[in-house]
Amino acid sequence: MADNRPVGVFDSGVGGLTILREIEAQFPSEDLLYFADTAHCPYGAKLAEEIRQLSRSIVEFLLANDAKLIVVACNTASVASLAYLRANFSVPFVGIVPAVKPAAQTTQSKRIGVLATNATFQAAIFDDLIEKFASDTAVVRQICPGWVELVEQGKIDGAEAEGLVARYVAPLLQDQIDTIVLGCTHYPFLRPLIESFIQKTTRAGINVVDPAPAVARQVGRVMAANGLDSSRSASGSVRYFTTGDVEALRQTVRKLLGREMLHVEHVDLVFVE
Ligand code: DGL
Repeated sequence: MADNRPVGVFDSGVGGLTILREIEAQFPSEDLLYFADTAHCPYGAKLAEEIRQLSRSIVEFLLANDAKLIVVACNTASVASLAYLRANFSVPFVGIVPAVKPAAQTTQSKRIGVLATNATFQAAIFDDLIEKFASDTAVVRQICPGWVELVEQGKIDGAEAEGLVARYVAPLLQDQIDTIVLGCTHYPFLRPLIESFIQKTTRAGINVVDPAPAVARQVGRVMAANGLDSSRSASGSVRYFTTGDVEALRQTVRKLLGREMLHVEHVDLVFVE
């Protein structure tokens, strides 16, 4: 069985591109739809109910555009809405939660740090993750106000970004953690700054965990299990959609991924009760 319809990927903004580029690398013949809900970004300070409504409207849009599988490429949207989406739509979903499990399995010091949004830390699922996989590990939580906005503006280098990275990574290092989980899909774009700050500040090796490759592998497993792999041998293409400004997205994508978007459209979300 094969299915040449596109895979839908969404995030509050450009964070999910860290997942999209891994899906492209692992499954180059798949067509992709990328939805950035820029007009409502950031999700991290919103209540779960609002995030569920936004996610629902995005899923309806992606399904109307023929998505065969939907990747919720946002930790905040996944913890708030994945169970709800699975209960309300029959399309297969792949979501993402902070990589507490692999971090707890590899930490030597039994102290890990998680960088994520406030809404992610508030979700019951986050406490469940710790109870299930990290009950013998100290988990230090750190929100990073301003990081999502930096990445949305393509400011992933320079003094402003360096300062904001230092502000939220420094407390973790003082806490003697040996592993840092990037629990928001925007943050891997700041990884070079995070790692150079770690190098400047401490001599001990600290492991930084970005779950994107594992999420893309899961996309592959779900496609295979549902007969959804594309039969094409040529490279797939990406269609981008944003609820925000197309030109601003163009500039940010150029900076973050070094590419020109060939197909990009502005769309408004429709909310139906
Ligand atoms: N990229 C999102 C995540 O993985 C959240 C960013 C936001 O606050 O909108 O959590």
